[in-house]
Amino acid sequence: MSGIISGGSAGVSPALSLSLNCGRDARAPRVNWHYAAGRSMDKINLAQKFSLFKEHWSPKIVAELNGQYVKLVKFSGEFVWHHHDHEDELFLVVKGKLVMHFKERDVAVEEGEFIVVPRGVEHKPEAVGEAHVVLFEPKSTLNTGNVRNERTLEELERV
Ligand code: NI
Repeated sequence: MSGIISGGSAGVSPALSLSLNCGRDARAPRVNWHYAAGRSMDKINLAQKFSLFKEHWSPKIVAELNGQYVKLVKFSGEFVWHHHDHEDELFLVVKGKLVMHFKERDVAVEEGEFIVVPRGVEHKPEAVGEAHVVLFEPKSTLNTGNVRNERTLEELERV
């Protein structure tokens, strides 16, 4: 059964394999193993996904689970002070270095490290050079939290 759980789709994208399944024997399962509850079971390669965009401070949705988004973002320089009233945020640094400023102290987050910013806590991310960061947070999370300005993004692209 290893072929079934390997995730190998033999070069067929989930969307395509789903459409190929349409019109088949009516007794066949309506949802094949490539797709369950609308979610892809293909793996994500972070380097490949990060190569698809260049903009800074513009998070891209790369996956979703349990009402949360996994987002990829490139940081360069400083962001704005803000907090989130209802959401905790996870920042995982996959490349470069991030400094998370809090009112009381700063925390340097290096490649391979992550930090969770609890809800309600004022914070300002700053990249040293360029940093590639994975975010994990509820779908409702706005990038600038309680602040709305020119850096606020209401709609996020997917990669
Ligand atoms: Ni935030």
